[in-house]
Amino acid sequence: MKFMPRKGGTMKVNRGEAAVAHAMPKRAALLAVCASMLACAAGLGCLQGCAPQATSEGASGSGQPQAAAASASVTLTDWTPETDCSTCHSTEATSRQDAACTASLHTSLQCADCHTDTTTLAKQHEGASSDDRMPSRLKQTTVDSSVCLGCHDQDEIAAESAACTALADAEGTTVNPHQLPDTETHGQIVCTDCHTMHEEQTDLQADAKAYCLTCHHADVFECYTCHEHS
Ligand code: HEC
Ligand code: HEC
Ligand code: HEC
Ligand code: HEC
Ligand code: HEC
Ligand code: HEC
Repeated sequence: MKFMPRKGGTMKVNRGEAAVAHAMPKRAALLAVCASMLACAAGLGCLQGCAPQATSEGASGSGQPQAAAASASVTLTDWTPETDCSTCHSTEATSRQDAACTASLHTSLQCADCHTDTTTLAKQHEGASSDDRMPSRLKQTTVDSSVCLGCHDQDEIAAESAACTALADAEGTTVNPHQLPDTETHGQIVCTDCHTMHEEQTDLQADAKAYCLTCHHADVFECYTCHEHS
């Protein structure tokens, strides 16, 4: 029987080479700031609550989601990474203001800096309307570890979490969350197996341990020692 994790990613945590994959989001973030300043200068509204009629222009993530939802509905003809996402995705836009969400530490990014599968997203958004039911999880795309590793260096985060004792099993074996034993099965583990982005995360350490237990059900970080399995 194959033992699967509670939720899985599709991409290996690619130590090393992935760090170069996404080396330019800083400039994109600067452009986003410039764009919002231009929007303010043009009188399009930059204060919270002053732009209830969201348009398809402007800086992603700004604006007042509740107000936007109440205003006239918007139907997309052409989705691009520059489309104002907050018109429709108010939950994710609001998560940027919530200190309990990791998204609040990433406000200088544009949404599409992490949601990089623009081909699939453009297809998925054909005819999308603000009246549609908004997704509560990713179904057709992923945010791969390579995106995260474009900014977070694997060796650096491993060094920072070297003293972390959250991942200790019943026998006292302690594992660094960013330096898991390099086994075949662990190769499928991705950043978002432990870290959430738009969802409040108040106990990351407990969430991380719970994730290990989805496979290490006996609270012992071993396999094949108590019984055989394939
Ligand atoms: C007019 C409303 C609207 C706008 C504007 C909009 N979206 Fe969406 N989005 C939707 C709807 C509706 C869905 C669900 C589509 C479906 O599953 O059929 C969706 C789905 C998604 C998903 C889920 C993908 C998956 O893997 O299933 C992501 C991510 C997403 N949008 C990101 C964005 C980003 C980033 C922007 C801005 C650049 C944006 N959206 C702008 C309506 C919108
Ligand atoms: C464009 C660059 C960029 C990308 C992409 C990015 N981050 Fe970040 N991240 C940052 C910055 C900047 C900070 C805030 C400064 C810091 O603490 O490192 C941060 C902070 C964090 C923190 C909190 C750090 C702390 O000290 O508490 C976590 C956790 C995190 N990011 C995880 C992720 C994950 C998971 C992904 C991928 C889904 C990701 N990041 C993608 C730049 C990025
Ligand atoms: C097995 C669960 C798990 C996975 C997978 C994971 N993290 Fe973490 N991460 C944690 C925990 C737990 C902490 C808190 C560490 C501490 O308290 O010292 C953390 C902390 C962080 C921090 C804050 C700095 C630090 O190292 O303490 C960043 C940034 C971060 N993670 C990014 C990432 C990125 C990027 C990935 C994917 C390459 C990733 N994490 C994969 C569990 C995980
Ligand atoms: C730092 C990377 C990052 C940024 C920036 C980011 N997202 Fe996400 N997004 C994720 C990750 C990772 C997930 C997977 C679910 C999770 O872990 O919370 C996700 C999930 C989603 C989903 C699926 C529903 C859900 O909440 O799980 C939508 C829709 C979405 N994001 C839209 C947006 C919009 C709109 C913005 C800009 C306001 C944005 N994202 C900015 C990383 C990011
Ligand atoms: C998807 C299932 C799965 C998840 C999730 C998982 N493991 Fe494992 N782990 C295994 C399997 C299976 C093995 C045995 C080696 C193999 O076949 O890959 C193993 C082996 C180990 C070992 C022994 C390694 C060795 O070299 O003998 C340790 C330690 C370990 N895991 C720690 C963890 C920790 C800590 C977590 C949580 C971050 C975790 N594992 C999450 C499946 C998993
Ligand atoms: C400390 C001993 C111990 C370790 C280590 C252990 N198991 Fe188990 N496992 C058990 C026991 C006892 C049972 C039977 C009782 C139960 O279901 O809890 C079991 C049952 C199972 C079953 C159900 C088997 C069936 O035929 O129904 C699976 C699947 C399984 N283990 C997978 C794993 C995997 C994968 C690992 C490593 C990630 C692992 N086990 C590590 C003790 C262990």
